Amino acid sequence: MSSIVPNSKRITTHGVQELKRKGVKISMLTAYDYTMARMVDAAGVDVILVGDSASNVMAGHETTLPITLDQMIYHASSVVRGAERALIIVDLPFGSYQGDSKQALNSAIRIMKESGGHGVKLEGGIEVIDSIKRILTAGIPVMGHLGLTPQSIYKFGTYTVRARKEAEAEKLLEDAKALEAAGCFSLVLEKVPAALAERVAKELTIPVIGIGAGSGVDGQVLVLHDMLGMTHEFSPRFLRRYLNLYDDITKAVSHYIEDVKLLNFPNKDEQY
Ligand code: KIV
Repeated sequence: MSSIVPNSKRITTHGVQELKRKGVKISMLTAYDYTMARMVDAAGVDVILVGDSASNVMAGHETTLPITLDQMIYHASSVVRGAERALIIVDLPFGSYQGDSKQALNSAIRIMKESGGHGVKLEGGIEVIDSIKRILTAGIPVMGHLGLTPQSIYKFGTYTVRARKEAEAEKLLEDAKALEAAGCFSLVLEKVPAALAERVAKELTIPVIGIGAGSGVDGQVLVLHDMLGMTHEFSPRFLRRYLNLYDDITKAVSHYIEDVKLLNFPNKDEQY
């Protein structure tokens, strides 16, 4: 894979597209801070998404709507300092691109200049095409996001599976094609039937990365805190937990508290 950035190890948007061409599945995970980004990167993930899910898992908000552009830039710049190899894509937060295409471009430019991320992701189909095209004129790679789009939660009212009905499925396919034609380098499909996701992945040449979209797509993404089991109140069917860190961390912290209370910490080797 040829590199167009100074760090020759860095995965590029073209590298990710090459993976689809070669039939190699793409791995993507979220990260929001330096320490986690270092570990995720060292493990070899292809793409790190600085998702606006930071609003939920880092800030404790119920939805992704409250997180600001400044906060996304803070998270993204921390991730950029921690990751040497992965392609880093940053979510444009709610309210930073829906106004008009100029606002979208300005927000994307701020992310690129102030965080050092390598591209942006935004939610929506044909209704945000002008914004996508405008961002692309500045040479900023764009990843689309269709299906369940959490920034529109108040419009839909639920986080259930999207595009189960024929008309909605056709609209999603149309949107996906429009995003590809506009120049998106990749597309996230969230919580849609596996058969529809597979069809989209087959009909598009750009990589389709799924979350709750089955195995027929070109790659998978999960929210890091969910797959590590740091969140335990959220259990959608698509989520595989690779660890149970909520229990491990609370146990470790309880053990520490007990040691402090019982004068077991520090011992004589742990002092000067
Ligand atoms: O913000 C996020 O974490 C996302 C993923 C769920 C794709 O958009």
